[in-house]
Amino acid sequence: MHTATIRRYYVWQMPVRVYHWVNALCILSLCITGYLIGSPLAIQSGSEASFGYWFGTVRFIHFVSAFVFFFNFVGRIYWGFVGNKYAQWKNFIWHRKEQVKEIVDVLKVDILQAKIGPLKSIGHNTLASFTYFLSFLAFLFQCMTGFGMYAAMSHAWLPQMFAWVVPLMGGDFAVRQWHHLTMWFFILFSIVHVYLVFYHDYVEGRGVLSSMVGGWKFIEEEKK
Ligand code: HEM
Ligand code: HEM
Repeated sequence: MHTATIRRYYVWQMPVRVYHWVNALCILSLCITGYLIGSPLAIQSGSEASFGYWFGTVRFIHFVSAFVFFFNFVGRIYWGFVGNKYAQWKNFIWHRKEQVKEIVDVLKVDILQAKIGPLKSIGHNTLASFTYFLSFLAFLFQCMTGFGMYAAMSHAWLPQMFAWVVPLMGGDFAVRQWHHLTMWFFILFSIVHVYLVFYHDYVEGRGVLSSMVGGWKFIEEEKK
């Protein structure tokens, strides 16, 4: 029987966990409502048009989710400066040689299903961090294009801050196309992300999956 000393590490603080699940719920709501805005259902009704306000409700849910998504994202940016060492921004882009080695190792695990020793990282592995960084850039792009379009419908300061995006990108039509295309990035990201966290939970045996709920990971101690 293999015996080992396991140490538990408090990796994801409450703000990171709350951010993660609020973000996941917002993405779900924004993808469903966004898809419906792009391809509206042809609902037939004999009643007065003003009684059937379903498309308005879909847009309303999209915009409410968008504001929650935006401020939640701003909160995570702030936490990248003041949070613990696993939440810090410097984790998201590799800058050391051993991190490049870890990316190659993770690719071997994920694509070739090879067995390797335990990973050095306790927080996100280097490859995962980098994909999260790319997703943060996509969040930013989606907020800029979304609020850019919304600026035509609201005089509030937040959308107006992004009013310059629409003329810069060649008008409403082009912005909507890019905004739509980025939705598919989130759908693909989510499918691959959920698969990989389940897979890593199994191959690493460190409690990766539950770490985003309770905050703890369980790491085998090196023998001295
Ligand atoms: C992950 C985040 C988001 C996703 C997946 C998403 C998705 C979509 C999609 C697919 C459309 C329809 C585009 C089309 O085909 O015509 C849309 C429309 C729109 N979205 Fe988003 N969106 C997101 C975030 C945001 C944010 C942060 C805002 C900011 C207010 C926003 C504002 C808008 C506006 C104003 C429209 C046009 C509505 C209309 O003309 O009726 N979206 N969104
Ligand atoms: C059932 C759905 C989901 C599960 C079970 C899940 C699980 C997890 C877990 C366990 C981690 C930490 C992995 C690690 O330690 O490296 C994580 C991180 C992350 N997930 Fe998810 N996730 C889900 C949905 C989503 C969705 C829909 C998105 C956005 C499109 C998302 C974006 C992220 C991001 C950005 C991080 C990094 C968090 C940070 O450092 O701030 N997740 N997820």
